[in-house]
Amino acid sequence: QTLEMEVSNIMKGGYEHYMQKEIHEQPESVLQTMRGRVRFQTADKAVDPYTERRIVLGGLSEHLSTIRRGRRIMFVGCGTSYHAAMACRQAVEELTEVPVTLEVASDLMDRHGPIFRDDMCVFMSQSGETADTLQALSYAKKQGALCIGVTNTVGSEIARSTHCGVHLNAGCEIGVASTKAYTSTIIVILMMALALSEDSIRKRPLRDRIINQLSQLPDKIRTVLKLDNDMEKLALQLKDESSLLIFGRGVNYATALEAALKVKEVSVMHSEGILAGEIKHGPLALVDENMPILVIATKDRMYSKMHSVIQQLRARNARLIVVCNQGDADIAALVSPRCTLIEVPPAEDCLQPIVNIVPLQLLSYHLTVLRGFNVDQPRNLAKSVTVT
Ligand code: AGP
Repeated sequence: QTLEMEVSNIMKGGYEHYMQKEIHEQPESVLQTMRGRVRFQTADKAVDPYTERRIVLGGLSEHLSTIRRGRRIMFVGCGTSYHAAMACRQAVEELTEVPVTLEVASDLMDRHGPIFRDDMCVFMSQSGETADTLQALSYAKKQGALCIGVTNTVGSEIARSTHCGVHLNAGCEIGVASTKAYTSTIIVILMMALALSEDSIRKRPLRDRIINQLSQLPDKIRTVLKLDNDMEKLALQLKDESSLLIFGRGVNYATALEAALKVKEVSVMHSEGILAGEIKHGPLALVDENMPILVIATKDRMYSKMHSVIQQLRARNARLIVVCNQGDADIAALVSPRCTLIEVPPAEDCLQPIVNIVPLQLLSYHLTVLRGFNVDQPRNLAKSVTVT
């Protein structure tokens, strides 16, 4: 028993919990995911410019032309892995111009949704062993689709049973709440889309922008991790609440869903991610001066729409917490002085969800500790769900 505890303490590397360690590891884990795969621009004049700003995914290279010819790309996963695909759907559509659909694995199987031979199905799973995702994989294989695996676990069932794929290389994730695998899955999917769009001259400016910004991502994550104390203070204010609503739209709808999943999963507080475009269609009824509402309003394509969402919430005297970009004076002027601002560095639209989720992971972590729940093994949950 004592030895086991000792080993576990060593593995936590000075942190109290695995979840906390894994959140703080993200500057390194995202770098590991990109290592040897993203060729950044260098100052070295001797480097052939054609080899710069390129993506090399060994596990996919033979299949890229088939995927480009596919009639759609279908992403299949559960929980956090599903949210990761949702966060980059728009970027994949934009870069590849191939229609993209998202499927929760269990729902795909409940419907036996149509899959065809020219579909490209991407199965995302941190553990590589999730039963629902595996069932969907064997179904898609039977339909003759090309099956691509995205997993963190070498030798897992997803890694072995797919036709090709990409490992996350995020390092072992032990906490039941998935954190670093989320950010790394988003990066893998973006790298796939960048590789698929390599032969398009029209897409080059967008590709170059994304690749340049990928190099800055570890530093941006380091910056948001400095919000740790602020998130602990915010958790202190929220710890006795019974509910937290999280509003986002566009790429940050996924951030809202993922943050709400983290809050409910570990801190055992009701939380709901809400598509901000839908507030007038029901959720507005929940808004009063007591219900805490977190709004994601970073400067992406949805910024002005999120402005008007904040105005509507203010008109109802809502108790707001807003995630915005650093020094955003417009947002600061828009909200009341009692509103908490979570200020994060700006990033290209498709990378902003990675930056935005980190303080919310920290918030859910601190909420859990303050509410006295088990951080790494939430009640009723398992790290890998091997039954359907
Ligand atoms: C995330 O925090 C959850 N533990 C859960 O939703 C998880 O992402 C889901 O069970 C899928 O797991 P997988 O990625 O290992 O397939």
